[in-house]
Parts: sequence; structure tokens; C-alpha cells
Amino acid sequence: MSRNGNGRRTALVTGANRGIGLEVCRQLAAAGLDIVLTARDERRGQAALKDVPGPARAEQMDVTDGDSVRDCAARLAADGVEIDVLVNNAGIYPTTSFFDVTEEMFTESLQINMMGAFRTCQAFVPGMVDRGYGRVVNVSAGGGAMTESVPHPPAYGIAKAALNALTLVVSAAVPRGVKVNAMCPGWVRTRMGGGGAPLSVADGADTALWLATLPDNGPNGGFFRERKRIPW
Ligand SMILES: NC(=O)c1ccc[n+]([C@@H]2O[C@H](COP(=O)([O-])OP(=O)(O)OC[C@H]3O[C@@H](n4cnc5c(N)ncnc54)[C@H](OP(=O)(O)O)[C@@H]3O)[C@@H](O)[C@H]2O)c1
Repeated sequence: MSRNGNGRRTALVTGANRGIGLEVCRQLAAAGLDIVLTARDERRGQAALKDVPGPARAEQMDVTDGDSVRDCAARLAADGVEIDVLVNNAGIYPTTSFFDVTEEMFTESLQINMMGAFRTCQAFVPGMVDRGYGRVVNVSAGGGAMTESVPHPPAYGIAKAALNALTLVVSAAVPRGVKVNAMCPGWVRTRMGGGGAPLSVADGADTALWLATLPDNGPNGGFFRERKRIPW
């Protein structure tokens, strides 16, 4: 098992300057992990850092930009920081109906909600494979499920369905010590979820925290809500 210099695991969270991502950082820090809080806007990332207890650093990372992801990985590697836990949380929620959604909106949703995780998995999972330990949490949504409903809203649901497919593909490509899972946080009171949502950010982050800290006999390649398996 590999740990960074101080003997603790390190978690990197995308889109972590607010909402569920910031709460995941807080909860993982409280659970004893070192935190790499990433944000597309460097200043917003640095400002959010004050809310995270314990060893934590902020890094600029726009998940739509392959160079931004790779540059972040290179800075961390240069500092000897190994990422043990990757939480792909960055997301947007376009709600336009199918006949009105533009190609640009659809592409943007795919770029953030799915390709972002593709980029970070390519950057950070090989190190997990080499070290024989890793936890990847893809923050998906019930709107991406296909077996019991139609993905919705279109640009969001299809991107999250693709994120779920990516989860299965990466989970099948890793050895036993690495666990790659998707989860739905439920309907959460954030800028995305709105003030009328029933769940707090702490509720919404709970399943991500569980998947990020799974024991060696934990699941791989599953889709979860409230720590329970749900249909794809
Ligand atoms: N809230 C819910 O009810 C709900 C339900 C199901 C699933 N989810 C999922 O949970 C995740 C977090 O949602 P949330 O409710 O916390 O949303 P939020 O409050 O809107 O936060 C979204 C975060 O993603 C970041 N982001 C957007 N585009 C990015 C990019 N290109 N690169 C890096 N970061 C980017 C945002 O950064 P900026 O501040 O710079 O915009 C922000 O930090 C999303 O994946 C969402 O789909 C949420």
C-alpha cells in the first residue's frame, strides 16, 4: 500500500470550490485524508480551502481542458503527491428539452459531465494501478439511469449515462486493489439542486465518502445511492 510522506491517503476532488464537491473535501479531510481541492477558477479554489480542515491544497483544474488536467497532475507529481482517491464531481445541469437543446450545449455537457472524468481517470488511475490501491468515485445522477427510465434531461442524462458507461469500462480495466464506482447524491440543496431540494450537502456527500474509503473487499463497478446499489 502506498501512502504519501505523512502516511495518509490523498484525495483529489474536481469542481470542489462549492456544493457537493466542497462538502466531499470537508468530509474526507475529517476522515483523515489529505485533500487536493481542484477548481476551474484558481481564486475560487483558494477561497474554498479555508473551509477544509487539515492538510489541503488547492489546484486549478478545468476538466474540459486536457492540458489543465495534465498540468495539475504534473504539478502534483513534481511535489511527490500521489493521488489515492479521485472524486469526479464537477458537473453542469442543462435542462433544455431535446428539440431545443443546441449542439453547443449538448457538447458542453458531455465535456464536463463525462469527458472530464475520462481525462482525470487517464491522468490519475495509472498511478493507482501501479501502487495497487485506488478509489474512484464518479458523481453521476439518477437522470443517467437507463434500465428503469429514459435519461433526462437530454443533454444531462445522456452525459451521465455515458459517465456510468465510463465507470464500468474503467472498473473492468483495474486490478483488485482499485475500486471504481458511480453514485447519485440524491436531490441536494446546492446552486445546481436549488433551495427546495430535500437533502443537505452532508447527505449528498455521504455515499461519495463511503465509496472513497471502501475497504479492500468493497464493491467495484457499481452504481449507488444512499450506500445502496441502484440499477444503471
Ligand atoms: N445537486 C443535486 O441535486 C444533484 C443531483 C444529482 C447529481 N448531482 C451531481 O453532483 C455533482 C455536484 O453538483 P452540485 O449540486 O454540487 O453542483 P454545483 O453546486 O453547481 O457545483 C458544480 C461544481 O462543478 C464545477 N464545475 C463546472 N464546470 C467545471 C469545469 N469545466 N471544470 C471544473 N469544475 C467545473 C463548478 O465550478 P464553478 O463554481 O467554477 O462553476 C462547481 O464547483 C454534479 O456532478 C451533479 O451533476 C447533483
